[in-house]
Amino acid sequence: MALSATEQTATPALVAGDRLKPVRIWLYCIALLVLAMVVVGGATRLTESGLSITSWKPISGTIPPLTDADWQAEFEAYRQIPQGVQNSWMGIEDFKSIFWWEWAHRFLGRFIGFAFAVPFVVFLFQKRFNWSLAAPLGGLFVLGGFQGFLGWWMVSSGLSELTSVSQYRLAAHLFAASLLFIALIWVARRLEPAKAAGGVVGWPVWGMLGMIMLQIVAGAFVAGLDAGMGYNTWPLMDGALIPRGLDVIDPFWKNLFENALTVQFIHRMIAYAVVIYAGWLLWRQSRHGGFGGVHGWLPRIAALIGLQVVLGIATLVSMVPISLALGHQALAFMLAGAVTGYLADGTPRRGVSVKRALILGVIPAKARIQLSGRRKR
Ligand code: HEM
Repeated sequence: MALSATEQTATPALVAGDRLKPVRIWLYCIALLVLAMVVVGGATRLTESGLSITSWKPISGTIPPLTDADWQAEFEAYRQIPQGVQNSWMGIEDFKSIFWWEWAHRFLGRFIGFAFAVPFVVFLFQKRFNWSLAAPLGGLFVLGGFQGFLGWWMVSSGLSELTSVSQYRLAAHLFAASLLFIALIWVARRLEPAKAAGGVVGWPVWGMLGMIMLQIVAGAFVAGLDAGMGYNTWPLMDGALIPRGLDVIDPFWKNLFENALTVQFIHRMIAYAVVIYAGWLLWRQSRHGGFGGVHGWLPRIAALIGLQVVLGIATLVSMVPISLALGHQALAFMLAGAVTGYLADGTPRRGVSVKRALILGVIPAKARIQLSGRRKR
């Protein structure tokens, strides 16, 4: 088929998807940085370093203590908080080691803000995207900033009365991090040029994402209460499948968030529910079209779930060594990211105008030629 003049001049622009390639790579890199941030945050928590910096100085806090006097001042501030009093055995060298974890965590947060903002402005000037994409990207930036605020809100809960942070605030902080992560993956994935052999996913996969997110929050409560340091047997808990003492706190709802036994039990139960649900999705898909196209995600997601459960059990029975706990945390995010990828690839891009689709590069070249041909008739 011969191309008309307009179609020929339009052809290089038809690879508009390529103009978005740097944008996609940038978003994937930011998602990777967020994952790294989660791991450093986990290490900060597991080394009990999170309360070592007792102030919130967004700009000047970038510079760590440089002189002995600076170190002494930071150390003194730490010794005023309940955890510092409890750790009265600590010398300045011990303090420095916990300080560096928290400082690295905060520094990485600032770095991510920078790595987001600078390319964003550059891409905007290069007109790689217009305002309809810039607005959601700006939303992600705000979510990232809010995450910093939640981090400080969490830390502040451990500075006056408690010797560790509130598990409620830890859960909010981890949940917001997971939201930011999956939103980045979603936006990046939706900017991929549409593939011809696709497949559509519906509510059952949204259900899977909902369960994983719920499990991430439940896991944060396990971590926040150090609930993995007890009941270190599997499959039995305290000698039974359903242990006694799940409701010892009054009112009952508080057990769901404050009773280490109940919190760990819930985390186990959700894990089993996720496994059963994934099995059902696999069975259903095998009977309705198989695992071609976007559904290739499904067996991979199921494998990740299996690995995550094994890692969770290993973390538990070995009493939460840092390496396994960090792996378990990172894999939870990868799992949420994989389900988001499946959803993004398998959700039809409804309501996208031809013009917008051309800008975003979501209409494949062949289809565009047909569209422009149809318009001329
Ligand atoms: C779909 C399956 C699972 C997911 C998505 C998941 C996710 C998570 C997440 C996000 C955390 C919080 C990590 C942190 O903030 O440090 C966590 C903690 C934990 N999970 Fe799981 N988990 C799953 C299954 C399991 C299973 C089956 C077990 C054991 C029976 C388990 C045991 C633990 C333990 C002991 C912790 C606390 C680790 C710590 O203190 O750092 N998890 N989980």
